[in-house]
Amino acid sequence: MAETMHSLSFSNPNPNPKKRSSGDDDGAAAENHRSLPKKPSPTSWGSDPAGNLANARHEFGEHGGVNMSIEASATFTVMEPETMHRMFTGELGPDRDFFIYSRHFNPTVLNLGRQMAALESTEAAYCTSSGMSAISSALLQLCPAGSHIVASRCLYGGTHALLSHFLPRSCSIRTTFVDISNIDEVRDAIRVGETKVLYVESVSNPTLTVADVPTLSAVAHEKGVLLVVDNTFTPMVLSPAKLGADVVLHSVSKFISGGADIIAGAICGPAWLVNSMMDLHNGTLMLLGPTMNAKVAFEISERLPHLSIRMKEHCHRAMEFATRMKRLGLRVIYPGLDDHPHHSLLKSMANKGYGFGGMLCLDMGTEERANRLMHHLQNTAQFGLIAVSLGYYETLMSCSGSSTSSEMSDEEKSLAGISPGLVRMSVGYSGTLEQRWAQFEKALTIVQQQDGNHAHANNAFSSYGKN
Ligand SMILES: Cc1ncc(COP(=O)(O)O)c(C=O)c1O
Repeated sequence: MAETMHSLSFSNPNPNPKKRSSGDDDGAAAENHRSLPKKPSPTSWGSDPAGNLANARHEFGEHGGVNMSIEASATFTVMEPETMHRMFTGELGPDRDFFIYSRHFNPTVLNLGRQMAALESTEAAYCTSSGMSAISSALLQLCPAGSHIVASRCLYGGTHALLSHFLPRSCSIRTTFVDISNIDEVRDAIRVGETKVLYVESVSNPTLTVADVPTLSAVAHEKGVLLVVDNTFTPMVLSPAKLGADVVLHSVSKFISGGADIIAGAICGPAWLVNSMMDLHNGTLMLLGPTMNAKVAFEISERLPHLSIRMKEHCHRAMEFATRMKRLGLRVIYPGLDDHPHHSLLKSMANKGYGFGGMLCLDMGTEERANRLMHHLQNTAQFGLIAVSLGYYETLMSCSGSSTSSEMSDEEKSLAGISPGLVRMSVGYSGTLEQRWAQFEKALTIVQQQDGNHAHANNAFSSYGKN
């Protein structure tokens, strides 16, 4: 039996899919669905990811519906037993519309993979049941037991815990965490032959530090290492593969979904990687089974066409709020502001017309003030919701140090720049901008009045003590 059931090209040029109909043999099939014109080859990606996405193969429904049909089957039948054998030897595969089992390939999930590849300008993509399963499957595929990873110290808490606890314990894969703005530190941490992956977030969770993808990819490649970039915070805004990244990962649960109702992930990269992940004996996707449900794939594929519009509005509002917050004298962290240390870097890498991302952070100094602000923003002013996650149409806010980054030790948090009062905001686009800003100001005024009353009471108390 072949190691991989089949090596297929996932890239978008239309492989002219066929469908069997009764009476056909498996090889001579009738046209199943009409297809829009072919997209450019992967080497000719356009500059705007929205344009690339629109050029991805459009799948029509079984009855000519404008939306693709959902292929809900777990398993697929063949007309002749011999065909099954040919599928298992790798001769016939999904690229010719031959499917075996949905943990392996499902037509609906595969089509979402094509869209994700177009979004990220990669040769292939495979969609998974969560962002964490995309991250863990990709890393486990690329890093054998005992190997080494160099990673940014500013990462989502779950990824940080995977690298610092789970992978060393389960397969002796160890990680050196570095400040990725210090290129010498990155270069020095790479151990030639032993280090397999340089791992970063394009814009980090929660501190919004920006990875210099072109420079990091040059350093990685010079040392024979792959650059893996989690682009969850900046779909559309950044295209890391075009800047030199080898693999781009997503928590699709966030901006790409946009509805805060789905957990999903994606691995976008070269076809050889996805093919190796489907290997019958050694593939993490095939053997660990982080499979996406076809119904979920359908849902996500319906949302991708308006991702660019949503991202533009997230980014526009984040920029506007950050600018106004700064004007009020608040400690705001937003890479769109020119006082952000990575503003010029992000500007130089960003796709035109999208802005600087939909995430901003407010440093309220202490956790108590952060919580008080969030309380009033949600319960008094209805500005947004206290919740983890991001990319929703409502504003979501959380105090990162005590929530999504609580897996990190105090020292790790301090090295990553996560202060106890850091409020991370995923800026939504519901309501009008002015309505939301008025709500923000209302909550802030209450917090500042309470601060004033508190200071006044303390002063009164201390003067009372003195008398
Ligand atoms: C940057 C980043 N990557 C990955 C993940 C994990 O994604 P999921 O929750 O879809 O497993 C998260 C979740 O918050 C995240 O923020």
